[in-house]
Amino acid sequence: MNTVVYFLLLLVSGNVLGREKPPHIIFIVVDDLGWNDVGYNNPVFKTPTIDRLAGSGVKLLNYYVASHCLPSRNMLMTGRHAIQLGIQHDDYGFHPRSLPLNETTIAEPLKHVGYSTHIVGKWHCGFYSDNCLPHNRGFDTFFGFVGAGIDHYTHSDHFNHMHNLRKNDDCIAKKYIGKYSTTIFANEGKDIINAHDQNKPLFLYLSFSAVHAPLEVPSSYLKQYESTIHDEDRRTYAAMTSCVDEAIANITEALEEKNMLKNSIIVFTSDNGGALVNSAGNNWPLRGGKHTSWEGGVRAIGFVYGDLLPRHSRGTENTGLMHITDWFPTLITLAGGNPHVGKKLYGVDQWNMITGKDKSGRDDVLITLQEDYKAGAHYRTGIYKNNAFDITTHAAIKMGKWKLLTGPIGGPSDWVKPQEINSDHRIIEDPDFDATRIVRLYNIEDDPTETTDLSEINQHIVIEMLAKLHNFSKQSLPAQSRIYPRADFDGMGECISPWV
Ligand SMILES: *[C@@H]1O[C@H](CO)[C@@H](O)[C@H](O)[C@H]1NC(C)=O
Ligand SMILES: *[C@@H]1O[C@H](CO)[C@@H](O)[C@H](O)[C@H]1NC(C)=O
Ligand SMILES: *[C@@H]1O[C@H](CO)[C@@H](O)[C@H](O)[C@H]1NC(C)=O
Repeated sequence: MNTVVYFLLLLVSGNVLGREKPPHIIFIVVDDLGWNDVGYNNPVFKTPTIDRLAGSGVKLLNYYVASHCLPSRNMLMTGRHAIQLGIQHDDYGFHPRSLPLNETTIAEPLKHVGYSTHIVGKWHCGFYSDNCLPHNRGFDTFFGFVGAGIDHYTHSDHFNHMHNLRKNDDCIAKKYIGKYSTTIFANEGKDIINAHDQNKPLFLYLSFSAVHAPLEVPSSYLKQYESTIHDEDRRTYAAMTSCVDEAIANITEALEEKNMLKNSIIVFTSDNGGALVNSAGNNWPLRGGKHTSWEGGVRAIGFVYGDLLPRHSRGTENTGLMHITDWFPTLITLAGGNPHVGKKLYGVDQWNMITGKDKSGRDDVLITLQEDYKAGAHYRTGIYKNNAFDITTHAAIKMGKWKLLTGPIGGPSDWVKPQEINSDHRIIEDPDFDATRIVRLYNIEDDPTETTDLSEINQHIVIEMLAKLHNFSKQSLPAQSRIYPRADFDGMGECISPWV
């Protein structure tokens, strides 16, 4: 390459004129946090730190994730879509399945350009063998748990009575019994920051087990809700959220004390919408919740904070379309690394969108496509019954302002007001809801709460979107199937551990 051209490339990539050093990246995931469950969307919730960081950063208002944890977390880790990974399902379920071992995690390219890489909290990308674990997949250290969720005090697994808290290969559960998960993970995050050599860039993936069920919290966090939230579950959930907020305050303070904050980018995201069933999350005014492809299930809380954001972008609300896979190329490029890992990414670099310099790098988002989750064949009726795309398939796609949903929805289709609103009609059913109609089209720009199905009067749009889904279905890997035998728990020792 001609040296002038090379120099120009360096200029545009920001490595010469921009910063001296790559930023520290603090990536925070809050599990099952609902749209209506942060202070800036719901003033009853007390989350002053989240509100402050979001308010002086960039709020992402058109940001999509999967409707449940597993695909979201594996997409986040790789920049690849769940359909490219075969991870469309709900959980690995103690079968020998994982994020395929030939995939590259976000920690690997970051490590390659000199980052210290640490994961604290929930992994959920597989654990049947040692080489599935994060400290063997690009992370220097792993402090946390391998599965979908834990009890916040005993740290026993969500699906199993066994302990699930480890440091790298060691079960450390006994030492922490009775201590609250959010505090444990915040303290560990702080310790990592305190021990970090500031001259080296840090990648800290801090993935809380809150505010996922079970609903448990130290009582001190409940007091602030005594007069505002009477429902006990909802009050506990709100208090769990406030505890996470305090944890983030502590992390931010630790960064400040180490003089690292000014060179940090903090990303905050939920992995899916609030869980309305068996939990007390809330997505009002959005429709539906976790496990559904309604906006309440897949439109997530997300923001970016940091002094590295150009001044004009701070304090903005960004309506550019973004997807959870976009973090991978965005952050790796920002770090001066190479996101081209030899596989086709679904994510696109959105730094110019986030900083207000350009529009979104994407026109559409495939929200979900689950070939193995279909409505009965007898539902394949009506004007789209002969479409090349099988409309009985559970799928959702957004293109511009339009969103198309096909097949089963995945869960309740109601609008649910939060318990703190006194109302005789907290759960609002759709009077026009017809379970046999399996093609639904909404104009999300005009109708973000998905009240009015426009599929019949916009057939050309439906057909265009079905063609897009058909294209995606041709690229889709089958969801990883259950592989037997299941885990051998007896051989694991105290903690849930690899067994192969
Ligand atoms: C990567 O691993 C997956 C799952 O084990 C496998 O299906 C796929 O063929 C592998 N791809 C390559 C390119 O080796
Ligand atoms: C935040 O730090 C304070 C002071 O060290 C501590 O008392 C509190 O438990 C921490 N909160 C969390 C959630 O870690
Ligand atoms: C589907 O894919 C084909 C080939 O990749 C492409 O030519 C076509 O434009 C795509 N159609 C849509 C609707 O994206």
